[in-house]
Parts: sequence; C-alpha cells; structure tokens
Amino acid sequence: MSSATLNETYNDKVVRQFAVMTVVWGIVGMLVGVFIAAQLYWPELTDGISWLSYGRLRPLHTNAVIFAFGGCALFATSLHVVQRTCHTKLFGGPLIPFVFWGWQLVIVAAAITLPLGITQGKEYAELEWPIDLLIAVVWVSYAVVFFGTIAKRRVKHIYVANWFYGAYILAIALLHIVNNIALPVDMFKSYKVYSGAVDAMVQWWYGHNAVGFLLTAGFLGMMYYYVPKQAQRPIYSYRLSIVHFWALISIYMWAGPHHLQYTALPDWVQSLGMVFSLILLAPSWGGAINGIMTLSGVWHKLRTDPILKFLIVALSFYMIATFEGPMMSIKVVNSLSHYTDWTVGHVHAGALGWVAMISIGAVYAMLPRLLGLSQMYSVKLIDAHFWIHTIGVVFYIASMWIAGVMQGLMWRASGDDGTLTYTFVESVAATYPYYLIRFLGGVLVLSGMLLMAWNVFKTYRMTEKIEPIAVPLPAQA
Ligand code: HEM
Ligand code: HEM
Repeated sequence: MSSATLNETYNDKVVRQFAVMTVVWGIVGMLVGVFIAAQLYWPELTDGISWLSYGRLRPLHTNAVIFAFGGCALFATSLHVVQRTCHTKLFGGPLIPFVFWGWQLVIVAAAITLPLGITQGKEYAELEWPIDLLIAVVWVSYAVVFFGTIAKRRVKHIYVANWFYGAYILAIALLHIVNNIALPVDMFKSYKVYSGAVDAMVQWWYGHNAVGFLLTAGFLGMMYYYVPKQAQRPIYSYRLSIVHFWALISIYMWAGPHHLQYTALPDWVQSLGMVFSLILLAPSWGGAINGIMTLSGVWHKLRTDPILKFLIVALSFYMIATFEGPMMSIKVVNSLSHYTDWTVGHVHAGALGWVAMISIGAVYAMLPRLLGLSQMYSVKLIDAHFWIHTIGVVFYIASMWIAGVMQGLMWRASGDDGTLTYTFVESVAATYPYYLIRFLGGVLVLSGMLLMAWNVFKTYRMTEKIEPIAVPLPAQA
C-alpha cells in the first residue's frame, strides 16, 4: 500500500466527509424506514411512547433518507464532479467546511425536533422556521461554492453534469424559500402565509419539484459523470444530453398538480398537471437511454463490474418509476392508486431503485480514488451488496404494487344496490402479508448498507500508510 498516493490537487476533504456521511445517514434513515415498516405490521410495537410513534417517525424517515442520505450524496458528488470537470479547486474558502457542518447541524436539528412532534405539517417541509433559515443560509453558501467554482474554471466548456447539478441547486433554493414563508409565533411554532387550495398548490409545486430537482436532476448529474467514467466510454449522445436537460427542467415545474387530482384545485389545473406528467415520460426515458447506451460496445463490463451494475440497474428503476408516474397521473388511474400503497411502491422504485442505487454506485466509484487507491477493499462485497439490495427493492416494490392495486379495487367494489362489498378493516387485514414482505425487503436493503459501511471502514484502514502529495492540476484547455 505504501506505493499509493493521496491526491491533494483538489479540495477533497469535504467530498470525503460527505461521502462517509452518505453511508452513515443512509443506515440511520433506512433503519428508521425498517422500523416504521415493522410498526405497520406490528402496530402496537411502541404503544404509549409518543416520540417513537409512527406519526413522528415517518417524517423522520423521509427527512433522513431524502435530505441526509440523498443530500449528502449530492453534496459529495457535485463537489467532486465540479472540480474534476472545471479543472480547478473549489471556490469559497471557509464556506466549504461551513456547508458540511451546517448541513450536519440541520440533520441533527431535524432528528431532535421531529420525534418531539415539532413540525410545520407540510410533507417533506416539516422542519420549523429556525431550521428552515439555517437550511437557506447553508444552501446559498453551497450555491456560492458550486457556481464560484464554475466561474473560475480553467476550461471553457461546462460539462453537462454541472448543468443538472446547477439546476437542482437553483431550483431547491427557490422551492424551499417560497414554500416555507411563514409567520413565527415562537421558536417552535409558525403559521404559513398560504391557506386552503393555494397552500395545497404551493405545497405540491414544492413537493413534486423536490422530486424533480433533488431526487431526479441532481442524480442525473451523477449519472452523467459516473456512468461514462466507470464504463470508460464517452456519453452516448452529447446532443441528447442537452435536449434532455432543457426538456426535463422546462416540463417538471408544471406537473405538481398530479398530486392533487380530484381536490378543490380548479379542474383545468389538475388536467394541466396530468398532461405535463405524460409529456415528462419522453425526456425521462431519453435521458435514461442516453445513460444506458453509454455502455454500447462494453456491455461485457456489466458481468464483472458491480459498480456499473449499481449504476445501470439504477437507471432501469428510474425508467420503471418514470413510466409508472405518468400513468398514475392520469385521472382515472389516480382514482384507483391515490391513498393506496401503490403510491408507496412507486416512491420506493424511485427512492430505493434509482436514488439509492445511483448514490451507492457513485460512492463506491469515487471513494477509493479520493483516498489514493485504485478500488474498494472488497469488490466481492460490492457484488454481494448489489444483489442483496436489488432483491430487497424487488420485495419492497412488488409487495406494495400488489397491495396497492388490491386496496384500490377493494375500496371501490360495490354490490348492485350500491353498498360496499368490503369494510375498510377487511382491506387492512388483506394488506398484512404484504407489509411483512416489505419489512423483509427493507431488512435486506439495510443489511446491504451495513456491508457497505464495513467495506468503507476497511478501505479507510488501507490508507493508513499513504503519504499525501500534491499533483499539479491538468493543463488549461
Ligand atoms: C415522469 C416522472 C414522474 C411522474 C410523472 C410521477 C408522478 C407521480 C404521481 C402521479 C404520483 C401520485 C400522486 C398521488 O396520487 O398522490 C407520484 C407520487 C410520488 N412520486 Fe412520482 N412521478 C415521477 C417520477 C418519480 C421519481 C423518479 C421519484 C423518486 C425518485 C418519485 C417520487 C414520488 C414521491 C416521493 C411521491 C409521493 C408523494 C407523496 O404523496 O408524498 N416520482 N408521482
Ligand atoms: C430500508 C429501506 C426503506 C424502508 C424499509 C422504507 C420504508 C418506508 C415506509 C414503511 C414508509 C411509510 C409508508 C406509508 O406511510 O404507508 C416510507 C415512506 C417513504 N419513504 Fe421509505 N423506506 C426505505 C428507504 C427509503 C429511501 C432510501 C428513500 C429516499 C431516498 C425513501 C423515501 C420515502 C418517502 C419519500 C416516503 C413517503 C412516501 C409517501 O408519502 O407516499 N425511503 N418508507
């Protein structure tokens, strides 16, 4: 190992910190996910303990997996990619560690306040106003670091991955600030300025675009860098990537009302949301195909490289979720799927299949190089992780799809005289076996994350004898 070198040409400390915290928060967030999955199967599990009740832990799960796990993966990879593709160190000096520590503080504040029941009651925007202000400050600092680095780049061209990361950073700033405008009454309580249907509209404009820009655009930035890098092939079509970018960001913003079908929202707004959701299928699949086809000529690498397997199977789940989403936005389909576990299945096809797999693949690809090594401690363990994770995701989403369609059909079944065929509790009882399968799927996914943590730990141990050296920056293009 003594022959390995630690490349200090770039500001990689922050990248390594965020990469490690991706694994840590991934385990925490998924552990809470497994726990709430258990609560749905054994409802009396934490009876009488308010801070462990389902209603408080569910937002803890969503915040931990989206903003702590997904967020750290996006911070790590964007700050890694922007330096490599701009041939320069990060801009921002003291802002760089501030972004890391500030974000960790946000996560810890969320982990304390949510179980205590302190919440704004808006899904994915539960955190109260002092934490929201901290998020805004950290996010603006992140934007300064990212765009400052782009501004001082030593190459003329701005690689397409940075376009996606840039769009996600700008859009999240806009969404977060507009959706969280509220009047504080004390440190732990505020009232939002919007009310009624307007509040619902703003909330789902935020909610859907959090999916579109954080859970999608940011991770597409990841795809555009790590898939070509790992396959050692140029992206399949650069032209398609530009069309993909502009089509995706101009269409996503209009699709939010599909979360509010058959509500007090004007009917035409609901239809508009549906139409834009259907159009969204085209750029989503176009982008995914661009990623997958990058493997043209080197498909055989999929047999031997588990990191590529993570990246490419992530894209396949992305295609599944972005086919299913437009279908669910069609009003008649939504009348069946809404309120059922079908939505939860769709969410986790995106979250566990796409977001988690592309992040895990990117961390495995990036981390050893950041440590001056050619690969992780054990490639076999990565392969085992891939299979455990994939089987876990299939258990999760297949059980929720079946449960969801079954629930929707049971709720609407009626006899000739119009009376309902099933009581609600009969549909709950029929769902139980599927909740057990989902729980087992979650346990598998979580076990995979524990394997990853072990692999990361052992990889760090391999670097103990490495001497840091400064490697000159690549020549100006
Ligand atoms: C073309 C792309 C997509 C479209 C058109 C779409 C459409 C939809 C629709 C119609 C719903 C159900 C709304 C309801 O009945 O309440 C939904 C829910 C959801 N989708 Fe998607 N989806 C897409 C892609 C994705 C992806 C890739 C992810 C994750 C990475 C995702 C995450 C979610 C989440 C988190 C919800 C649940 C929101 C909630 O009610 O809390 N979607 N989506
Ligand atoms: C071990 C892995 C996981 C397990 C066992 C799990 C389990 C769960 C459970 C039980 C729920 C509540 C469903 C309900 O209320 O009926 C849920 C909701 C949710 N989870 Fe997970 N989860 C996991 C990983 C993830 C990951 C990695 C993400 C995102 C990157 C994620 C995002 C979400 C979201 C957005 C919701 C809200 C869905 C909605 O409102 O429709 N989960 N999860």
